[in-house]
Amino acid sequence: MKAKVTAHRDYTIAKIDDRIYSAFLEHLGRAIYTGIYEPGHPTADKNGMRQDVMDLVRDLKIPYVRYPGGNFVSAYNWEDGIGPQDQRPTRLDLAWHTSESNKVGIHEFMDWCDSAGTKAMLAINLGSRGLDEARNFVEYVNGPTGSHWGDLRKKNGREAPWDVRMWCLGNEMDGPWQVGHKTAEEYGRLANETAKTLRAFDKSLELIVCGSSNADMKTYPEWERIVLEHTYESVDLISLHMYFANRAKNTANYLALNAKLDNYIGTIESVINLVKANKRSKRDVHISFDEWNVWYHSNAQDRAILEGNSGWPHAPRLLEDIYNFEDVLQVGCILNTFIRKSNVVKVACIAQLVNVIAPIMTEPGGAAWRQSIYYPYYFASIYGRGKALQLAVTCPGYDADVADNVPFIDISGTHDEEAGTLSFFAVNRHATESFELDLALQGFGAATVIDHQVMTHSDLNAVNSLTDQAAVVPHKGSGAQVADGRLQAKLPPHSWQMIRVK
Ligand code: AHR
Repeated sequence: MKAKVTAHRDYTIAKIDDRIYSAFLEHLGRAIYTGIYEPGHPTADKNGMRQDVMDLVRDLKIPYVRYPGGNFVSAYNWEDGIGPQDQRPTRLDLAWHTSESNKVGIHEFMDWCDSAGTKAMLAINLGSRGLDEARNFVEYVNGPTGSHWGDLRKKNGREAPWDVRMWCLGNEMDGPWQVGHKTAEEYGRLANETAKTLRAFDKSLELIVCGSSNADMKTYPEWERIVLEHTYESVDLISLHMYFANRAKNTANYLALNAKLDNYIGTIESVINLVKANKRSKRDVHISFDEWNVWYHSNAQDRAILEGNSGWPHAPRLLEDIYNFEDVLQVGCILNTFIRKSNVVKVACIAQLVNVIAPIMTEPGGAAWRQSIYYPYYFASIYGRGKALQLAVTCPGYDADVADNVPFIDISGTHDEEAGTLSFFAVNRHATESFELDLALQGFGAATVIDHQVMTHSDLNAVNSLTDQAAVVPHKGSGAQVADGRLQAKLPPHSWQMIRVK
């Protein structure tokens, strides 16, 4: 079978915002405790931060890490995580029915970000708390010394303000499960007043208002319209979340799910434009897709832990999805969608980063290792930068539950003008057929293939594990070549690949 693609130097979608390769860390399960933080671990630094995890995180070149939640943030008191560690209170975490020792708080997280080569995107509790705590938190993090919160920060060991630019105004406030869940009207007003107040402190902050928790919420997309009617002039981004699952064990339907993602983003883009027009505004609001990933493998185990748990365990094994090869294809398709929607998606966070629905896993006292999905995320983050190309794609498709005529080949392309490189990321969704990729390179000059990475596997259910960390890994591809301005390559059935030319 054939996939015909045309890339033209002048046909671009947008400059990709590097922040689409961001991630998320929540005080949930073992993300923090025995994830990034484990004093006593053989690799722990003086702050108790695991350096084996740090190395795997650094390699990903993650622009921003969203923190500290998630559902956790909606009943979190940020003040519990400051001051001497041994005097911090242990609290009950109402979101995940666990105990929170508060050994890691804002100081520890900000130091971790510095070491990991990333920046913080902080979420504010607008569930159990409100505007006043929000402004106090922002002043504590960014305010000058000589004022109450700045001086307290200094007393706690950090004199210079951290200057965090990105702030999330709550988390999933449309969700009935959320502590302090609100109607769109209630939340819109609170978010706007909070945004106004934070801007009175620093008008250049980037503020992110909550959109829908997923595209199946009853309130979607009216939620976004109402919330933006309240906040359009005071926020920069609206947040969307989506998790992907293959509960029915139907690979073709599963791998078509990014058609739903595409539609979700397109719908909210339309809502943004509607509100912009209603307000006769010159301002642009973009999308922060700040929670996305595959999440379903651990559902039964989580139910057993949460239902069988009458106590409040500290750092239990919650949401520890073990990802298979099939999920590599899914994550490849999701990342392709963000590249193709880079005109409106300016931030995206894989959820999450360590142990909890994560590309990186750890064993307490033991090793840290890469899950299968680490790799498509890694290659996109390293090479999927520059301009997103508007590719013209002709290839056969199939009808799936969420959409008809889903193309068997899902592909995105990026052009790094400075480096003079083109990177193509392709997923073949076909279970049995190879595709001959014939990709016309127009306006780029002479080129040769400089890298070709392939992920295929005879078993869609193959996984990496602590004891077999290399069952699902990329291999160097062969046979891809550029001749007469055309990139030609064979895309095997059920495969992910990255082909780079210069
Ligand atoms: O990432 C896990 C959870 O998923 C987050 O806490 C919440 O925001 C979402 O529902």
